[in-house]
Amino acid sequence: MKKELNRLQAVLQKNGVDTTRLPVHVAIIMDGNGRWAERRGLPRAYGHRKGVERLCDITRMSSDIGIKVLTLYAFSTENWKRPFEEIDCLMDLLVEFLRKKTEELHENGVIIRTLGNCSQLPGRAQDELELSIDKTRQNTGMILNLALNYGGRSEIVASVKKICSGVMEGSIRLEDIDEMKFSDHLYTGGLPDPDVVIRTGGEYRLSNFLLYQAAYSEMIFAKPLWPDFDENEYAKALKEFQNRKRKYGAI
Ligand code: IPE
Ligand code: IPE
Ligand code: MG
Repeated sequence: MKKELNRLQAVLQKNGVDTTRLPVHVAIIMDGNGRWAERRGLPRAYGHRKGVERLCDITRMSSDIGIKVLTLYAFSTENWKRPFEEIDCLMDLLVEFLRKKTEELHENGVIIRTLGNCSQLPGRAQDELELSIDKTRQNTGMILNLALNYGGRSEIVASVKKICSGVMEGSIRLEDIDEMKFSDHLYTGGLPDPDVVIRTGGEYRLSNFLLYQAAYSEMIFAKPLWPDFDENEYAKALKEFQNRKRKYGAI
């Protein structure tokens, strides 16, 4: 553990990252698996498998260096438009990841959670998620949010509905609804907004990710495809974050 931490500290140091000024909440749009495979003449599924390896590395590194919340965009509400075989492959990889890695994550104190409407995921994925979430619920380390069947717009609509029904049944007063109250009803309720949103794969868009929460997040668009986004690339992104001056509208 100590040796591993020294190794990661060295990666951060080499890239000039100040370990006392790390973001609290890092959110990542893990994009580029398909292109990674296609460029090698391989089926897209290979890219997704490689992508899970990076997901494991980046999660491990985040937890070891002391990131408090890591949110990973794994499946969007729009990704249902993909061929059935690809969706099936992604769900299989999710189940495999949870089966293989929950124990290790648990040992590292990670709390596994989800963002999104998971009731529409296949039963096998829901079952495995429930086990992982239950097992790690009491932990005190990093919160790992897996955004699954997640869409920023549907999250906002769901939040509006929850608040409206609260108003109708009298548990919420109209005059008490403010930005704070509203964000409490999002999937991320109670968590700080992401300090930084990293998108790999070279595209410059949010693709319906954390629309409300990213209002003042620093955006980092990294060229490497997600299967090539290693610890060194992550350290570079953290350095870029630290070079930004956050102003929140002030001067
Ligand atoms: C991101 O990689 C993973 C998911 C959306 C699940 P893509 O599959 O979108 O890869 P590209 O963008 O086609 O290369
Ligand atoms: C965003 O990637 C969603 C995830 C990483 C899960 P997409 O590949 O689905 O986004 P678009 O289609 O390029 O906008
Ligand atoms: Mg993509």
